Amino acid sequence: MAELTLSNIIDGITHSPKYAQIAPEVISRLAEQELPRHKKLSTAIKAARTKLHQAAGAYLDSSIIYAQITKELELIHDDDVESLKIWAYKTMRLHASTEERLSDLEDFYRLALGSILQPDSILDLACGFNPLSFPYQPGFPNATYLACDIVLPMLDLINAFLKKINNPGYAFACDLAVNIPDPSADLALLMKTIPLLDQLNRQIVPRLLNGLKTDVILASFPLKSLGGHDKGMLNTYRSRMAELTDNSRFEVEEFAFHNEIAFLLRRKGLR
Ligand SMILES: C[S@@+](CC[C@H](N)C(=O)[O-])C[C@H]1O[C@@H](n2cnc3c(N)ncnc32)[C@H](O)[C@@H]1O
Repeated sequence: MAELTLSNIIDGITHSPKYAQIAPEVISRLAEQELPRHKKLSTAIKAARTKLHQAAGAYLDSSIIYAQITKELELIHDDDVESLKIWAYKTMRLHASTEERLSDLEDFYRLALGSILQPDSILDLACGFNPLSFPYQPGFPNATYLACDIVLPMLDLINAFLKKINNPGYAFACDLAVNIPDPSADLALLMKTIPLLDQLNRQIVPRLLNGLKTDVILASFPLKSLGGHDKGMLNTYRSRMAELTDNSRFEVEEFAFHNEIAFLLRRKGLR
């Protein structure tokens, strides 16, 4: 077996086509974390891959073929919003976390965002396939849609979608574990990602909420685990949101859905 070095860990992780799709800065961060923790290269690679699976791989359908989905998108006529919605709905099924929202999608954003002004810009953080729900969001089609995640072909697909609808926005790679995305926006979406970030370090989310250049954030939490079990998540996540927003610049409103609890955070004093 090769020597335990940073570059060998990175090569070992990206040897798997699945993990070669992850943003290089995330692979490097994990390799640097694992290097001092192991004596053998194989265990360092395995530990990093397990973390990538938990962060991203577990949500993605293993049969996903991006080229085919993109081709189907290209075949839709530019002003055929109905076909676009059907394509988006079908594609959202391929991301386990985005999929869980589909049963509530017609009402989800209408209810959770009903009290705010139509946004001119939206920043969707750790977006998964949620940008494809833009046709169901207030702000469609005129708001500039910005989105970030760590899965590169997913970001390419979202860029193809935004181009298809002539949206000036774009999708980009971000590592929320270490960076706060720079673009300002009328509305930021932080959907079902706080638990993942909390698992890495509980200081990440307070820093993010404080550092984002936006006055309105819709943040949500899952109400069942990927395995489908309710583990008292409602109370746990209500408490976490209270902890995150106590003495903060935000006032908070709660919305409960079948699989998800959402919190609308609005800067105090904002009309
Ligand atoms: C639970 S899913 C939520 C997806 C989407 N927000 C939704 O609710 O439909 C978590 C998402 O976070 C992304 N992710 C994981 N680690 C990340 C990181 N460090 N920075 C940015 N995104 C990350 C994953 O690729 C995945 O798409």
